Amino acid sequence: MIRFENVGKVFHARGTSVTALDGIDLDVRDGEFLVIVGPSGCGKSTLLDLLGGLATPTSGRITIDDREVTGPGLDRGVVFQQYALLPWRTAQGNVEFGLEAKHVPRRERPARAREYLDLVGLSGFHDRYPHELSGGMKQRVAIARSLAFDPQVLLMDEPFAALDAQTRDGLQDELLRIWEQTGKTVVFITHGIEEAVYLGQRVAVMTSRPGRIKQVVDIPITSRSATADLRSDPEFARYRHEIWSLLRDEVDKARSAELGRTRKETAGV
Ligand SMILES: Nc1ncnc2c1ncn2[C@@H]1O[C@H](COP(=O)(O)OP(=O)(O)O)[C@@H](O)[C@H]1O
Ligand SMILES: [Mg+2]
Repeated sequence: MIRFENVGKVFHARGTSVTALDGIDLDVRDGEFLVIVGPSGCGKSTLLDLLGGLATPTSGRITIDDREVTGPGLDRGVVFQQYALLPWRTAQGNVEFGLEAKHVPRRERPARAREYLDLVGLSGFHDRYPHELSGGMKQRVAIARSLAFDPQVLLMDEPFAALDAQTRDGLQDELLRIWEQTGKTVVFITHGIEEAVYLGQRVAVMTSRPGRIKQVVDIPITSRSATADLRSDPEFARYRHEIWSLLRDEVDKARSAELGRTRKETAGV
């Protein structure tokens, strides 16, 4: 289980300090699909970087199964918005790269890589280079690469944000299927309300900066895959509205803070 205990993060840059996160308390259960949603700049990526061990908290601590996170580890796979694939390696070569890190014997790597490319729906595209793949396909490779070394937790920072709507909808369904199939814990960041409700068993809504957890909303829709057109379901609309209302207050707050700053600046204060 993942636990954030009073986690804060302050950045110091160019003589000023920015409090990105303040007093984050959050538990993520084993095998859970948790979505974190919040206005732009509220500290979502910072929170995921801390969990990924790519940055360290200024205060508080993060533990996974009672062990403190002190750096990156193979128990966590990260998928970013930009695919971060190696352009000189094929799809298969990119997935094998993750297996090298895990010291999987060389002769086992090709079969393992193919297995995960099949899992993400890329059978027949093993030999393609990143520039020969669409955005959605590249993101599938990135997901396969993260899954191939069998991490306990999958951390995803707006992984579908750069994709067109149709590709995104398709990948959301794929991700839900993979999650159900593998039982991984998924922590998924988005600024999209619909995406949050569609994917999350729980949705944690963040405040505008400094980011805190404003509320965690349960989305008890039992079988997403069984509901033919979930997005048009009245229940779905109700949750979407709830998250929307929570977020709207935060966006309003961020906007008035921004206006306040601009006024001060133009008045020369
Ligand atoms: N390395 C950094 N140095 C200074 N400020 C940073 C750094 N990373 C993020 N920030 C600031 O922290 C805040 C939160 O950023 P981020 O976590 O990227 O937000 P989000 O992902 O929700 O859009 C922003 O104000 C951003 O400018
Ligand atoms: Mg971000």
